[in-house]
Amino acid sequence: MEKKQLFRIAVIFALGKVLYGVITDHDQQCTGGLSKESIFGWMLQGHIYKTMLADLPHTCVFACYKDDRCQSLNWVISLLTCEFSNRTKEARPEDFIPNADRFYFKRDRNRVGLGSIPELPAETCHEIKSSEGQATSGKYWCSTIKTGTSILAYCDMETEDIDECTTSHPVCDVNANCTNTRGSYFCTCKTGFSGDGKTCQGIVGKRKYCDRNNEFHTKSVEGIESNNRQTTQLYGMVITSVTSFCKCVNYRRITNADRKVTYGKVSVQCDKTIDTAWYRFEGAVGTRMPTSCPPLYRCNTNAPGWLKGGHPSVADGQVTRKACFHWSNCCSLSTNIKVRNCGSYYVYYLKSTGSCWYRYCSTD
Ligand SMILES: *[C@@H]1O[C@H](CO)[C@@H](O)[C@H](O)[C@H]1NC(C)=O
Ligand SMILES: *[C@@H]1O[C@H](CO)[C@@H](O)[C@H](O)[C@H]1NC(C)=O
Repeated sequence: MEKKQLFRIAVIFALGKVLYGVITDHDQQCTGGLSKESIFGWMLQGHIYKTMLADLPHTCVFACYKDDRCQSLNWVISLLTCEFSNRTKEARPEDFIPNADRFYFKRDRNRVGLGSIPELPAETCHEIKSSEGQATSGKYWCSTIKTGTSILAYCDMETEDIDECTTSHPVCDVNANCTNTRGSYFCTCKTGFSGDGKTCQGIVGKRKYCDRNNEFHTKSVEGIESNNRQTTQLYGMVITSVTSFCKCVNYRRITNADRKVTYGKVSVQCDKTIDTAWYRFEGAVGTRMPTSCPPLYRCNTNAPGWLKGGHPSVADGQVTRKACFHWSNCCSLSTNIKVRNCGSYYVYYLKSTGSCWYRYCSTD
């Protein structure tokens, strides 16, 4: 009984001060700011993060000053309790309602701007604008991008749109593109990945490669397209047939001009020691082997070599042909070589002539 009486006295005391403040708009230093910012008979609902018992509302006001999250408080007259809110009535006018047992107090000193610290994230850009009166576009802490996490994101105050794609905490999978839209965003898995964009899984595709022996292989690799695009990008050519692939990619270049059929005999060379391998004639040497018998003592040798039987088409694939060397007749020595048409050039599988002075020749 006695206790209740005491409470009542305290409440009346407090109220008296408040009402006095409201009427006279008195010196804020003395009243702890209660005068100007308190509104009797009203409360802010739905944003109370903490309550506290206190004999006087001033105690609550000072507690509010010490808590960065505190934006406003309700004082409950009959319970001598304060309810701390992490919003102001400006931020949430719809939650500001009449209540005969309370008065509302907006923090008047060192109030932290909504969204300016991780402990006080905003839900929308609009809320920040309303709460602060005016706000400039920039990065703010936001609670709606990922539940339970404060994320720094760009707020465009003109459109009131959060750019979810610029956050420090990626909203899409690392293998996805993020596209911001007004009011939302979407994620798209990158090429070679599938999923909803928030999680993307690598599509298992086949990577094509040639080993040292020019043998063609495929290997399952995650994150590549299952068609030929990757390989095409790697080698800059379209693969028409898998078996032709390696030979058309892994070859050696022959570029010395003295192999040309128009070149005379200057220092006499031979192909006794040539490595067995695929070759392509390129540059000053021309582009292909001659398909008719060259005169003697050409391409810087005694017995010049030529291709008998003509060149294959792309569709012929790899063919075996005779390379003839002109000495006592146009084919006095011959050896089997392989030839492939790679579309815009030929490759030849050449091997040692066995003795001198025989040499493979070329022409334009
Ligand atoms: C603000 O208060 C509400 C309770 O009213 C709570 O659900 C929310 O998590 C609080 N926000 C922060 C950042 O503490
Ligand atoms: C992802 O973004 C990159 C770079 O902007 C673009 O080249 C690519 O096409 C995009 N991919 C998809 C699936 O949208």
